Amino acid sequence: MIKSNFKNTKIESEIKNFDIKKINLIHEMIENKTGLGNDFLGWVNWPVEFDENELKKMKEVASKLRQEIDVLLVVGIGGSYLGARAADEMIRGLYHKDKVELIYIGNTISSSYTQQIIDYLQNKEFGIVNISKSGTTTEPGIAFRVFEQLLVNQKGKENSRSRIIAVTDKIKGALKQLATAENYETFTIPDDIGGRFSVFTPVGIFPLLVAGVDVDKIFIGAKKAMEDTKNTWNEAYKYAIARYLLHKQENYKVETLVSYEMQMQIFTEWWKQLFGESEGKDGKGLFPTSCVFSTDLHSLGQFIQEGSKNVLFETVIDVKKPQIDLKVPLNDEDLDGLNYLTKNSFHEINRTALEGVVDAHANVGQVSNIILEFEKMDSEMFGYAAYWFMKACAMSGYLLEVNPFNQPGVEVYKTNMFKLLKKPGF
Ligand code: PA5
Repeated sequence: MIKSNFKNTKIESEIKNFDIKKINLIHEMIENKTGLGNDFLGWVNWPVEFDENELKKMKEVASKLRQEIDVLLVVGIGGSYLGARAADEMIRGLYHKDKVELIYIGNTISSSYTQQIIDYLQNKEFGIVNISKSGTTTEPGIAFRVFEQLLVNQKGKENSRSRIIAVTDKIKGALKQLATAENYETFTIPDDIGGRFSVFTPVGIFPLLVAGVDVDKIFIGAKKAMEDTKNTWNEAYKYAIARYLLHKQENYKVETLVSYEMQMQIFTEWWKQLFGESEGKDGKGLFPTSCVFSTDLHSLGQFIQEGSKNVLFETVIDVKKPQIDLKVPLNDEDLDGLNYLTKNSFHEINRTALEGVVDAHANVGQVSNIILEFEKMDSEMFGYAAYWFMKACAMSGYLLEVNPFNQPGVEVYKTNMFKLLKKPGF
């Protein structure tokens, strides 16, 4: 479901000649859970090991909630929201007609944004899923306080209870305590799966069920990617080797993930967190950024074509089949001179743009381009792609000799902020 193409890089032949023994060794470390951070490798077999009973229960709760609400507030930050949002937008698109809208809160401390959502919810029926593995993260914590009170004011204490769901650790953390005390329905985040690897757990699956997404197909896609990456010489590992070589040999510092679909934008945000938090440590790693083309060709295209060299390379997602394809309409007068395009569909024009841009950037601009061909944009593809990138990320992190599953650097800002806010104990 994903094919990688390295023709537009200078390291194509070196990928084929890469030390396969090293790849085999790392592959075994991932599969047998023996490498750095091995207590966070629960995601590797999750597509076949997830708890069927919990999924059944989630389906029941989600289907009841779906009937009652117009809006589901998804409270969470980082790995506790990006996966659900990436899937929601990739699968349903940005302006879908489904009954339930997902709104993401707790991913910012902006009071303007928070107040805008309070105003937007007036006269709307809403529910809340509060997602936090630690159960102590400040941003979702304060957002939940605000919206829990809003819901209780709107519906009363008893009636709001069935509209609030917690997704958190099975034992510890303030959210677990709160959910138990208030008798909120709770789903569990497994101990051995970190935030950015958690989209197939209730973290991603519960909100997607409320959104009416076919999560069974997500699991089908994830399982397929799991099978396709059981052999060491797979497309995900080739991608990991390519980015490693571009970084180490060609000296690139930045990788930008390019998509030509607006509804893939948050997918690229999810990818940024996955690779940024997994690799950016011990003074190592590529800085992950993203672009949507052709939009950003009119802002960043100039820099990519002619700016500083060997800073940034591109990884381009080429979606073969659009969800919907439009024709450019014929206009008898042709005052805008665009009738020559009526023989093409929008998607054909979009993919022709991709072809022209890759040639311009790689051959004229000397910027390496990796192409990842995605078959389509649906639930199965999301499951496949999310798992595929997680596996590539694990390989990539181990190639760099870092622990891909921790994020110690994130604590530094938190400690400063808590000191400044005079949090007890800081
Ligand atoms: O990937 C990660 O581990 C982080 O991005 C976390 O998901 C994020 O910090 C939120 O943490 P928590 O789920 O504990 O609120």
